[in-house]
Parts: sequence; C-alpha cells; structure tokens
Amino acid sequence: MQSLFWPTSSRTANLVLLILVCIKECISMPDPHQRDLMLKQELAQQVGGSVELTQAEEHLDSLLHQLKIKEMAISPFPPAKHFFKVRHLIQKSPVFKLLQKMPKGKNRFVVKCFLYFILQNYSVLPGAALHIHSSALVSANWLVLNATYRPYCYICFTWEGSVWFQFSAHTPLPRLGCSLWSRLDTLRARLSDVTAFDKSLMQNLTLFTDDPETAYPTQDAVWERFEKIFVALSGLVTYAPVFKDYIYQGLKELYEDNIMYLELRVGQSRAYELDGTTHDKAWSLEVYRNLTEQFRAAHPDFIGSRIIYSIHRSLSVSKVKQAVQEAIKMQRQYPDVLAGFDLVGREDTGRSIWYFREALSLPSELKKDLPFYFHAGETDLDGTEVDRNIIDALLFNTSRIGHGFALVHHPVAKKLSRNRGVAVELCPISNQVLNLVSDLRNHPAGVLMSDGHPVVVSSDDPTLFGTTGLSYDFYEVFVGIGGLSANLGTLKELAINSIRYSSLLPQLKDKAMKVWQEKWDKFISDNSKL
Ligand SMILES: *[C@@H]1O[C@H](CO)[C@@H](O)[C@H](O)[C@H]1NC(C)=O
Ligand SMILES: *[C@@H]1O[C@H](CO)[C@@H](O)[C@H](O)[C@H]1NC(C)=O
Ligand SMILES: *[C@@H]1O[C@H](CO)[C@@H](O)[C@H](O)[C@H]1NC(C)=O
Ligand SMILES: *[C@@H]1O[C@H](CO)[C@@H](O)[C@H](O)[C@H]1NC(C)=O
Ligand SMILES: [Zn+2]
Repeated sequence: MQSLFWPTSSRTANLVLLILVCIKECISMPDPHQRDLMLKQELAQQVGGSVELTQAEEHLDSLLHQLKIKEMAISPFPPAKHFFKVRHLIQKSPVFKLLQKMPKGKNRFVVKCFLYFILQNYSVLPGAALHIHSSALVSANWLVLNATYRPYCYICFTWEGSVWFQFSAHTPLPRLGCSLWSRLDTLRARLSDVTAFDKSLMQNLTLFTDDPETAYPTQDAVWERFEKIFVALSGLVTYAPVFKDYIYQGLKELYEDNIMYLELRVGQSRAYELDGTTHDKAWSLEVYRNLTEQFRAAHPDFIGSRIIYSIHRSLSVSKVKQAVQEAIKMQRQYPDVLAGFDLVGREDTGRSIWYFREALSLPSELKKDLPFYFHAGETDLDGTEVDRNIIDALLFNTSRIGHGFALVHHPVAKKLSRNRGVAVELCPISNQVLNLVSDLRNHPAGVLMSDGHPVVVSSDDPTLFGTTGLSYDFYEVFVGIGGLSANLGTLKELAINSIRYSSLLPQLKDKAMKVWQEKWDKFISDNSKL
C-alpha cells in the first residue's frame, strides 16, 4: 500500500489519482466529526466564546437560547425593523406580570418582551457606557417637563420649523433664522392644550417618530434633523442650573439601567447664566467631577464618569489645534476627569482625521500623553477619504474606535485593532436611525462578533433615539446582530469589555470588576430559578 502514496511510475500515479477521485466521489457525505469540530471552533472564536460558564449560568444560557429561538420565529422580528417602529414591542413592561400568569414560552408576545425584560430589569448588563454625547444624554421627556418649566425660559420658533431655547433675565434679541422670542410660562398660560404643545416640543428634541422611513428617507435628511436638534438642545442644557440637574439626571437614568460607569463625549459649548455671562470649560469639568462625587455618595456602587473632550470636525485646523492644547492642559489639571480627545460630527461631510494630522500630532510632539478616542468609519462610503479615517485613527494610536462601521472592509486595520486591543464602540440603534443599515441582522459588526473582535456596546445619543440606558442597544446586539449564536457568554464578555476597554486606571478598573461580578452573580442566582 505504501507504494501507492510514493508512486514510482506514471501507472501508479494514475492509480492514486483514481483512488483519490473515488474517495471524493464515492463517499460524498462529509465527515460529521469534522463538521462538529468546525462548529465548535467557530463558536469558540466568537465574542464570549472562551468564557467558561458555571452550572447556573449554563442553565440560564439554555433558557435564553430557547427564548431566542421562539423570538426569531415571530413577525415582525424587532431587530429587522426600524427601532422607532418596534420600540413599543421591545418595551412593553407589564411583561413580568404576564409572565407570572402564563406558562412560559407559550405566548409569543411574552417571549418577545421577556428577553428585553431580562436585559433591562435583571442587571444582566451591569457595565459601562463608553460612547454617549453629553448634549444627548437625557430623555426628551425630562428636558421638556423639567428644564423648560423653569422660570425665564424663552422659546423661539425658527423659520425652518424647529425651536431654540434661551434662559434670560430679559427678552433675548431676534437672530437670523428666528425673529420672536416668547417666555414659555406666559405662552403656556395662553394655550388650551398644553400637553399637546409639550409633546410637540419633545418632538423637536428627538428623532423619534412613528414613520421614520418617510420622515428621514436619506442619510442627508436624517443628519440635517440631527444637527438641528443639537442646536435646539444646546440652549436648554448649557444653562448652568439646568446643566447641573441634567448631568445628575443623566447619571440617574443610566444607573437605573445598571450602568456603573460612564465616558461622556463633551463638546465645546460653555455654560451660561441668566445675565448672559458664561463659565469657562474648567468650570464644566469641575461640575462634572462634583456631580459624579455627589452621585457616588448617594449610590455607593456607582464607579464614576470621565470626559472625552471633543471638537466638531467641521472646524479649522487652527481651532482643532487650540482644542488639543486645551485638552492637554485640562488633562494635567483634572487627570481624574479628562480621559482623552475626539473629533465629532458627521464624517461623510466633515473633515478627515488626516486633514487634522498636524493638530493631532501635537501631543506626541510635545511628549504629552493625550489618549484619542476617535469616531472613525461611521460611513458606508467604502474606499473614499472618509473611509480612511479607520486607518488614520489607528495610526494615531486611538484607544478605541467610535462606531467602526467600515472596519470590516479593512483587513489590515481590523487585525491591528484586534492585536492592540482597540475596541470598537458599537452603537447599533444609532447606525440604524442614521441610515447606515436597516435590518440589524446585516450590521457588519456581526462579522466582528463572530470573530471575537474587541467590542463594546453603547447608545450614542439616547435623547435623539428615544432610548434610556443601554438595554435597547444590548437587545439589538444580542438578538439581532449576534443571531442565535450569541449566548450568555457573549453577554458576559460584552459587559466585561465595557470595563476592560474603559479608560479607568488599573486600580479603579479592579474595583469596577469586583462590583460588576457581584451584580452579575446576583443576576445569575435570581434568574436561574426561572
Ligand atoms: C427638575 O429636577 C430637579 C432635580 O431633579 C428638581 O429639583 C426640580 O424641582 C425639577 N423642576 C421641575 C420644574 O420639575
Ligand atoms: C416643534 O414645535 C413646534 C411648536 O409646537 C411645532 O409647531 C413643530 O411642528 C415642532 N417641530 C417638530 C419637528 O416636531
Ligand atoms: C466643586 O466642589 C468644590 C468643593 O465642594 C467647590 O469648592 C467648587 O466650587 C465646586 N465647583 C463648582 C464649579 O461648582
Ligand atoms: C503611536 O505609537 C507608536 C508606538 O508606541 C509610536 O511610535 C508612535 O509615535 C505613536 N504615534 C502617534 C501619532 O502618537
Ligand atoms: Zn458618537
């Protein structure tokens, strides 16, 4: 037989060929062991694939698996639809009552909501939120019902059908785009239906609508509204007294969703007082620090919050340079508060990282350590200058990649980000609402997840997307993007990642991990009895 494999003549060579062909053709069924092996290898490679589960965790995992199978069979499958159209399906909260009354798993509606219920109510995901913008942190509800009800709040209806706000001791002067300012309390006193009016104000502060496809048919259309909302928000949230309560409220909304730690992108706007005077940025950082302390005193298991100093990418090189210098200075002054630097705003129409290379090289020239947390690859313009932000973010040693929607198109960058442990900040609802992807099962992060790429989940702009906390985004990642293969190990690793890839210093990171582990264990023991 040996000679068959070591042919000495062409005749035996032909024989070998014949046998090989026969093996291939005659035994057409693939080897089932090989199949098992391949499946196991793939599962082991995905996010959470190497997480070892305890017996209790395995029990809960199989329960989750069953629920997911049922959930995938129902129509509409929420992750396949625009979030605005299915939020009510995901969110029905009387679920638990129904669940207790009904045999589990029989009622589709219950099953659908049950997954969300687990994610939201049972601290599956105590963890950290690493990608949220400070002016879109709190629900539009709170902004209208609390902030706009304060005295001296003026409103102006803009020529373009939006609103601006300003707190002022005197009636503000007319501005280009908006001619008449009215005091909200006197205006409300004249209205017959204040509730409807307040609802319309909320509509001005969020993208949330019942018919998003008609309201925002293109990326341009949705981004135009998006930017307008930020203008509307800014007059409200930068009023110093509102600002303080607003940040505290933001921490509260996250904490109620089991978030223990926050990294907040903070822009350039300054807080102002009733008489029009403004505070410098150091004031804002101090307020952040003070409020975080205050919040921690009231909630001892809260770890804290840090700031990523951000500037809009539509600005000039010299402005960005100035901001980088400022960030370096503030980091020296408030090292516990300031985590790093970022460029924000729409990538497709804004300037690229490469355009700002001179400004962004300053820290390394000055031998200062200013970590970058760049938004990069929040685009579907493959191969363009915009798309190269992914490469340039990594060349500038970014600590994480905001969105990284385009990363899977760049194998070299992908490998580099993986090897360096540069996590992708995945914000699925944001990507869907801003029209990068419609059915979330097609989100490119599915590739990253099955490949065990470092990923963290965040919510980007909760005010605008009608979410609070991270549970909605976790739902979309776990049920939609991750598909049936995402399991309890995936959830566990995603939660751990949010601490692992945070900017927390080692000592605080350890503390955060300990607090998280306790919460996780409690979640497992609470739920494995289900
Ligand atoms: C707004 O919220 C703050 C802090 O939670 C509270 O003290 C204040 O009374 C509220 N104001 C209004 C008008 O609801
Ligand atoms: C904003 O509020 C005004 C005033 O109530 C309303 O007329 C307008 O339709 C609202 N705009 C949006 C986009 O909801
Ligand atoms: C922050 O707290 C410190 C200590 O309580 C206080 O002195 C300081 O004025 C506060 N800063 C701001 C901006 O409120
Ligand atoms: C990035 O890190 C490498 C390795 O530490 C260093 O050589 C390089 O100068 C850094 N680049 C920038 C732009 O900071
Ligand atoms: Zn963002």
